[in-house]
Amino acid sequence: MLAAPMLVLGIESSCDETAAAVVSHEGQVLSDVVRSQIAAHAPYGGVVPEIAARDHMRAVVPVIEQALGDAGLSLRELDGIAVTCRPGLVGALLVGVQAAKGLAFATGKPLVGVDHLVGHLLSVFLRRPDDRAASRMPEFPFVGLLVSGGHTALYFCEGPLSAQIHELGATRDDAVGEAYDKIAKLLGLGYPGGPVVDRLAASGQAARAPIELASPMAQRDSLEFSFSGIKSALARHAAGPHAPKTEQELADLCAAFQRAIVRTLVSKTVRAARKLDLSRVVVAGGVAANRELRARMAEACAAREMDLFVPPLQSCTDNGAMIAYAGLVQLRAGERALLDLGPSTVTSLPQLTRKGRGRR
Ligand code: KG4
Ligand code: ZN
Repeated sequence: MLAAPMLVLGIESSCDETAAAVVSHEGQVLSDVVRSQIAAHAPYGGVVPEIAARDHMRAVVPVIEQALGDAGLSLRELDGIAVTCRPGLVGALLVGVQAAKGLAFATGKPLVGVDHLVGHLLSVFLRRPDDRAASRMPEFPFVGLLVSGGHTALYFCEGPLSAQIHELGATRDDAVGEAYDKIAKLLGLGYPGGPVVDRLAASGQAARAPIELASPMAQRDSLEFSFSGIKSALARHAAGPHAPKTEQELADLCAAFQRAIVRTLVSKTVRAARKLDLSRVVVAGGVAANRELRARMAEACAAREMDLFVPPLQSCTDNGAMIAYAGLVQLRAGERALLDLGPSTVTSLPQLTRKGRGRR
């Protein structure tokens, strides 16, 4: 039976991007507007929660209007409104949630709250007009590696709803994107650090770096991660006599850091897939934009006859389309949020790994 066509507006404001998008029933992206706050936070080397909340307030209405305008739709034509309600910065989330509730109340359209992590994991199902690989979509079940600035975890995804997504292991401390951002700040490379370190690493050689950076927790038979140790090792090195003095030395150091990080991410993902006897792997989140991660993961999966699915770059970093799509799936499953929907700093997905303490 074919599901009825649907048009859903997705609103995202969990961190430093105000985003809105309209997505139709098969994940077709009709519009996708992302307004980044990077310039506002860059002087501080990281996201300042109060600045984020204020900036979302200024941007949220124009961004929604543009998303509707780009899709050529009015609010009346929508079938539902989806908004990120967790996890994230509470003041930032509140702006999107209030905007969505206002629209739902004024139009009488159904409302759903979306978990940002579920949005990332489902971003692989978006179909963008300029994406030629869009016809390749994974079937459930699959192993999902979520790597972003706020989260790093492996999931067993047996379906698209929160209750069907199970954490296999997560980071005990920093998220991988956070580690990239922190070391970039330390090396004076600006914010956000991931894209700069990725670019520098491409012109460096890990073997030439004067420091051996071990892949974090790579040997352990667990699916947990830890990135604070490698970050501290690099910080000590950068403060010592062998700190990089030339652009080439800096590039070599970035290459060593990236190699160690990517090795861990790849080996744990493959381990998870083997453990669960799954042959499909999805990588999502901002760090999935990393070129070395994409290349090494592709090699590792090909060698084991596993199918790898990585969304195009616009779908990897925060966007409203992934929230609209996750919301669409929830609406179809009959979920509805009431007007008392509120933001939360924690994910709705059960967490096995506790920060600082490891597995429950
Ligand atoms: O998913 P995202 O846009 O926001 C969160 O939900 O956190 O991820 C942002 C993170 C930042 O830490 C940024 O440095 C990292 O993704 N990132 C990258 C790359 N592009 C973005 N990290 C490594 N390599 C990249 N090419
Ligand atoms: Zn995100």
